[in-house]
Amino acid sequence: MTDTTTPSNPSGTASAAAELIARSNRLGADPKNTNYAGGNTSAKGTETDPVTGEPVELLWVKGSGGDLGTLTESGLAVLRLDRMRALVDVYPGVEREDEMVAAFDYCLHGKGGAAPSIDTAMHGLVDAAHVDHLHPDSGIAIATAADGEALTKEIFGDRVVWVPWRRPGFQLGLDIAAIKEQNPQAVGCVLGGHGITAWGDTSEETERNSLWIIDTAAAHIAEHSKAAPFGPPLEGYAALPAEERRARAAALAPTIRGIASADRPMVGHFTDADVVLDFLAAAEHPRLAALGTSCPDHFLRTKVKPLVLDLPATATVEESIARLHELAAAYREDYQAYYDRHATPDSPAIRGKDPLIVLVPGVGMFSFGKDKQTARVAGEFYVNAINVMRGAEGLSTYQPIDESEKFRIEYWALEEAKLQRMPKPKPLATRVAIVTGAASGIGRATAEKLAAEGACVVIADLSLEKAQAAAADIGGADIAVGVQVDVSDAAAVEAAVQAAVLAFGGLDLVVNNAGLSLSRSLLETTEKDWDLQHDVMAKGSFLVAKAAAKVMIEQGMGGDIVYISSKNSVFAGPNNVAYGAAKADQAHQVRLLAAELGEHAIKVNGVNPDGVVQGSGIFASGWGANRAAVYGVEEKDLGKFYAQRTILKREVLPANIANAVFVLCSAELSHTTGLHIPVDAGVPAAFLR
Ligand SMILES: NC(=O)c1ccc[n+]([C@@H]2O[C@H](COP(=O)([O-])OP(=O)(O)OC[C@H]3O[C@@H](n4cnc5c(N)ncnc54)[C@H](O)[C@@H]3O)[C@@H](O)[C@H]2O)c1
Ligand SMILES: [Zn+2]
Repeated sequence: MTDTTTPSNPSGTASAAAELIARSNRLGADPKNTNYAGGNTSAKGTETDPVTGEPVELLWVKGSGGDLGTLTESGLAVLRLDRMRALVDVYPGVEREDEMVAAFDYCLHGKGGAAPSIDTAMHGLVDAAHVDHLHPDSGIAIATAADGEALTKEIFGDRVVWVPWRRPGFQLGLDIAAIKEQNPQAVGCVLGGHGITAWGDTSEETERNSLWIIDTAAAHIAEHSKAAPFGPPLEGYAALPAEERRARAAALAPTIRGIASADRPMVGHFTDADVVLDFLAAAEHPRLAALGTSCPDHFLRTKVKPLVLDLPATATVEESIARLHELAAAYREDYQAYYDRHATPDSPAIRGKDPLIVLVPGVGMFSFGKDKQTARVAGEFYVNAINVMRGAEGLSTYQPIDESEKFRIEYWALEEAKLQRMPKPKPLATRVAIVTGAASGIGRATAEKLAAEGACVVIADLSLEKAQAAAADIGGADIAVGVQVDVSDAAAVEAAVQAAVLAFGGLDLVVNNAGLSLSRSLLETTEKDWDLQHDVMAKGSFLVAKAAAKVMIEQGMGGDIVYISSKNSVFAGPNNVAYGAAKADQAHQVRLLAAELGEHAIKVNGVNPDGVVQGSGIFASGWGANRAAVYGVEEKDLGKFYAQRTILKREVLPANIANAVFVLCSAELSHTTGLHIPVDAGVPAAFLR
């Protein structure tokens, strides 16, 4: 193994890899330098071969996948330079250049580190100690300008050389190596339709050259761009006021997610960043959006082009929804035609015809992916594309690579192989869940379980702070978010469902868990007690189910609603009239809604827990002490006491309830609705019949 960090490393070139990582992290930290996970960097140096004791020349290069900003040593591929360069002698020509990727495996040093990427040839063949290949918006703007070659000369003189578009691979590496040799004065090149490559004798010099190309291109654009690169403002297409556009986005989101998920379910991301709104407010946006993106990184993430709603922001929600459905049908036909135009008998099968980017003038951009991170990055990529188009149109005319070349990237056999190697998705991947009362106890355990099984989770509870803290414990904003809600307040429930829809694009899974328990005899139960129990549990779950079902029906993707009712929904426990009656109400909602929502493929089921002491706020806030006193046991032993009353003699934990919720929502119970599962370790008095 290459230990590049040991200071006592005899050759002293351990620092080459360390310098490479530091430089990559700096470059990757600033989005002006490259898109997320885009570009790659390398260093060459000498180490002692542990087998021969002789010096050996090595190439460290960022491997396939991962981001420069967070690159660590495990993300580097390590190759023997002599063997890598010897590949030139067996290279069979551009028609078979893809075969060279497999040949890289025969050049690895030691275990080789990360898998070498397609750009390895460029890094190894260019005769420079350090090489950066980046996708900066400013550089791609020049690379996609119709007269990019002339602009490169005008901006950089002979210091940066134009390389016509060529799909990344071994041949592109040979081309760039030749250009460097023929232009000893050059510090880098602009790769037509794609990005930039820079080099230097030291890491520092290379970084300086990369930044000089990026900043010089940006400065040239700033100074020479025409005033309104996207054209004059379009009447009615200006951004709606912030609150109005978020409400509009939430109203359109279920329809849009349904459209993006026609072939396979997707998680969504929404942004109303100025850069998007400004683009959509200008006259040229339909023409430019139709031209599509250009940088090779984009096609799998954003598809060739977005779906653009061709109505002004002044259109009504109903008009917008009707038009979106028409445009979606046209998009699918258009995508099929694109596939048919370019596919050859050995092309991978079509991967789905739905848009990944949907643009709504005055409102913003929806982007989609197999999980939240992928959806968010797709949106970031389209923002990159807008920046590129602005730069290119400002100086010249935006001219991305030919459609046939886009297809060669999107349906590249090497990309397909990468997709095939992806791990199987988790059971609840792409599903968006909202769990009420999830800052504590059973709700929290349920949110954790759903997230662990791949769902995106919205934690809704009375306290925003506690909801956010629970969400942060479960994962970052790509996995869980916390929102404030009082489920007995219809407006608050609407707002929480809106927040869920804006966070993840839609909603598939609802857990009506929020609750509280007052144990009082009939004569002690006040009207207020009765109302509180019924407001939170009976009315609260009705309101949540109603708001969520509206979203699910509009999405057309089915869904699950799960009620956490109780043993007490069927068992007449002592001193329990308000709580027990509210639980019985919830249990009957399960049956009523199962019958009503089935035609929309929405399943409604329930779980009947009992005696969940650990983690339960209900037990901690006096109810437990009261019960313990009634039974003559210590409060801390209450769980064990309850266990002894059960058939299985087992204590019921929040995780046991969470598992039942998961099973009800999983594919295994796809044909079950209107069911309650008791999770009580066996209580004969609460058997269902
Ligand atoms: N613990 C048990 O033994 C048991 C047994 C049967 C049923 N249940 C039911 O399970 C559910 C969860 O109970 P738990 O034991 O985890 O209790 P818990 O007190 O730990 O959690 C309940 C959560 O609901 C929240 N909540 C209360 N009122 C709300 C409102 N108006 N709007 C939004 N959130 C609200 C609370 O803030 C709390 O975070 C309840 O519906 C309860 O009736 C619990
Ligand atoms: Zn590239």
